[in-house]
Amino acid sequence: MSRQRLTLLGATGSIGTSTLDVAARHPERFEITALAAHKNGDALRELCRRYRPRYCALLDEAAAQALRKGLREDGISSEVLSGAEGVQTVAALPEVDTVLAAITGAAGLLPTLAAVRAGKRVLLANKESLVMGGALFMEAVRTSGATLLPALLPVDSEHNAIFQCLPHAAQQCGTSLPGVRKIILTASGGPFRETPFDALRDVTPEQACAHPVWKMGRKISVDSATMMNKGLEVIEAHWLFGMPASAIEVVIHPQSIVHSFVEYLDGSTLAQLGSPDMRTPIAQALAFPERIDAGVTALDFAALQALTFAAPEPGRFPCLALAYRALNAGGSASLILNAANEVAVEAFLNRRIGFLDIASVCDAVLSEAQATAVPRTAPTTVEDAIEFDAAARRVAKRHVAARHSRRGT
Ligand SMILES: NC(=O)c1ccc[n+]([C@@H]2O[C@H](COP(=O)([O-])OP(=O)(O)OC[C@H]3O[C@@H](n4cnc5c(N)ncnc54)[C@H](OP(=O)(O)O)[C@@H]3O)[C@@H](O)[C@H]2O)c1
Repeated sequence: MSRQRLTLLGATGSIGTSTLDVAARHPERFEITALAAHKNGDALRELCRRYRPRYCALLDEAAAQALRKGLREDGISSEVLSGAEGVQTVAALPEVDTVLAAITGAAGLLPTLAAVRAGKRVLLANKESLVMGGALFMEAVRTSGATLLPALLPVDSEHNAIFQCLPHAAQQCGTSLPGVRKIILTASGGPFRETPFDALRDVTPEQACAHPVWKMGRKISVDSATMMNKGLEVIEAHWLFGMPASAIEVVIHPQSIVHSFVEYLDGSTLAQLGSPDMRTPIAQALAFPERIDAGVTALDFAALQALTFAAPEPGRFPCLALAYRALNAGGSASLILNAANEVAVEAFLNRRIGFLDIASVCDAVLSEAQATAVPRTAPTTVEDAIEFDAAARRVAKRHVAARHSRRGT
């Protein structure tokens, strides 16, 4: 069996680290050809020592320069590329079969699209790519000419669970799902599921990032606390599985054991269960259609206590409703919401605005940008997507500044 050659975009992050853990358990199957990150050169140097990739890439030029020096000192011959071009180059290397797309946020769009367009099998964690430009992204997947099919495999645990619950013939993302009535995404409810609403005003970034079940990067942790993450996942599910917003539901399931459900027309509901550990969906996607050990402990049903489910409270989680609003509005609304959220989350992490301001900034930007500053039609080219994203960010920054100055007074 020839080894699958991998590029990991976002190699130093939470998903990147879990993917390396799974791949390292199966050296006969996987070869780490390239690793890419933003500016954490020390972490990438450590990964190069361990995995000896042929290439690595850092977006940040100065960090890449320091990494070149460090690797020379270590006697490691990995070629270091840099800048946006360097990251996109390792996403599309001719010798690579599979690309993990695990860069956070809108920054993942161009490298992920580069991998799709180069015909790679893409394991998608970067949901923001789909939220920004779902139609153009899925069109690129349909015409990608990937040799390993399906060309796109979802890594997000909920979408991976849905994928696993589909009949084999429908496991081609972007195709219609005959016989499916709806899909139900589970949500842990995050760290503030039971916090009194008034107390949310004063929660800190540290509290928001302390997720009770999942260990994740800071941006997605805040998104989980506001439930914007679930909203982005609803939009992601729409594009991946071709379902309308009305056929995508969310249910709170604090134990995070059931990772999602597919409800069929005949009354059957299929679910995928497992320990809350991202190595399971990553291993499923890496080895598809086979199964491999992921290093994850299996469920012990005798020891499991109750599995509970509840509808999300709309008043507590306004970001979820905003995502449905954006999806139903169509055009560039999802892109605008994503841009506003990234700006607001960063401002919250930098203590410029409060936790509840995240939803209010997103709401204000969605209303204002749709009415005035940003084109309402969906982007048809990646250049459009980037331009619309920049315009929405300008609006969002103004709303952040207004809230920041109010907090200061
Ligand atoms: N963590 C989870 O359990 C989970 C689950 C489902 C989906 N996801 C999705 O997976 C993606 C990654 O999440 P994460 O939790 O792994 O994030 P993370 O721990 O914050 O890691 C982000 C990674 O992306 C790199 N990066 C950030 N900006 C970049 C840029 N402009 N160019 C190149 N690399 C860049 C970072 O490099 P540096 O280290 O150099 O900054 C790091 O390697 C997100 O889209 C998230 O929504 C995550």
